[in-house]
Amino acid sequence: MVIVCCMVFYSLFRFKARPNQPEPSQTGGHKTVEVIWTVVPFLIVIWIFLLTARGMSRSDPGPKDQPADIEVTGARWWWQGRYRDGGFYVAHELHIPVGKRLLVSLDSPDVIHSFWVPELSRKMDAIPGHPNAIWLQADRPGTYQGFCGEYCGAQHAWMHFIVVAQPPEEYARWQHAQATPAQVSATPAPGQVLFQRMTCVNCHAVSGVSVTGRSAPDLTHFASRKKLGSGIADNTSANLARWLKNPQNVKPGALMPNPELTDKQIADLTEWLESLR
Ligand code: CUA
Repeated sequence: MVIVCCMVFYSLFRFKARPNQPEPSQTGGHKTVEVIWTVVPFLIVIWIFLLTARGMSRSDPGPKDQPADIEVTGARWWWQGRYRDGGFYVAHELHIPVGKRLLVSLDSPDVIHSFWVPELSRKMDAIPGHPNAIWLQADRPGTYQGFCGEYCGAQHAWMHFIVVAQPPEEYARWQHAQATPAQVSATPAPGQVLFQRMTCVNCHAVSGVSVTGRSAPDLTHFASRKKLGSGIADNTSANLARWLKNPQNVKPGALMPNPELTDKQIADLTEWLESLR
């Protein structure tokens, strides 16, 4: 910039119009000069494009290059993660070990979402039928907020998730706990009986109880989660009861219909779900 500015200012003063001076010779229509200043920048732009394309393909792993550590699915309006190591499922709460780079694959069963943890990496779209992948790494322990970065419908704004970066030993303990089936008593609690008898099991899974439904958040370790409804409320008994009373009052448009439970059923289900640590 300094060189260009100096040349511009030099030319301005050196070649400015002076009184009684004839017009200098003009170079308009000079074919050789025009060909040179068209072709050279064109080649420079192509060269930069090739460098960029190479850099991008190196920084973005293809999902086929290596198996993903976490298979993330963005769906209306929540996030699911499946950990290859342990084979368990999580919802809107990913844990990662500090300082280790994990490969996250991204997919969607419905519309385009975008996986975005501003403090850790750029956005990457989750596109139905077109798997993408992105590296995820945190250098410091902590909780990082994630969002959906692509408008996807009524509850786009409530498609939050968190990434919890933990020291390796702590992460290993978490991973072991998540991979363990739910602790249920030999005589099922009233809430568990309800869960299995009603339509809950069509969409929700609880490892050790029922794993037929996968279209809604896995509830195996429900009580260990910080948030409900992809971040819309804290995971407390009162909020869970409010959710079970009618999810549409808490998160209008969510794909969970009103289960039309009695207060007693809500209390039983709340008690059981909040026991799933
Ligand atoms: Cu998903 Cu916006």
